[in-house]
Amino acid sequence: MQYSVQIITVSDRCFRGEREDLSGPALASYVEKAGYDLLPPVLVPDEQDQIEAALLAACAADAALVLTTGGTGFAPRDVTPEATLAVCERMVPGIPEAMRAASLAITPRAMLSRAAAGIRGRTLIVNLPGSPKAALENLTPVLPTLAHGLNMLRDDSPQDCSALALSKQI
Ligand code: MTE
Repeated sequence: MQYSVQIITVSDRCFRGEREDLSGPALASYVEKAGYDLLPPVLVPDEQDQIEAALLAACAADAALVLTTGGTGFAPRDVTPEATLAVCERMVPGIPEAMRAASLAITPRAMLSRAAAGIRGRTLIVNLPGSPKAALENLTPVLPTLAHGLNMLRDDSPQDCSALALSKQI
């Protein structure tokens, strides 16, 4: 099944034009090669209300997967996980657990990422760190397994409908 992905870069400096966004394009190229469709990329500053608005817009656009990059560290303005928690209805702690476990084999600094993942409606939101290298190192080990999660999240197969119809008859 072809799923669409929304990439959201969260960075004050990129938003102000002081730094080129390298992480968004790096993630876009990676997920496109993995067979996903891309929605137009979004860039927001490290402002919780603007991050939440971008996440809600991605859900409204029916993105199956939202990947944020940036704002997961300890800096006072790093609030991407807080915005993610605010909009998600169900958290998926196993995804950041797996990302951090894999990244700890690369650098002990992996423990400093506060990245979260969760579900809102039919959309899975996954936080990634800000640098292109760290973002890809976190995404690479989990992306193949995310497909199964998206299949479960988006499954509206006839089998389920007939089960519902049967249960209504009884
Ligand atoms: N994960 C991997 N795989 N590689 C890295 O270089 N950097 C860490 C961590 N995760 C890193 C990583 C660091 S130094 C920080 S501060 C956190 O991600 C958060 O990054 P962010 O503030 O850019 O979101």
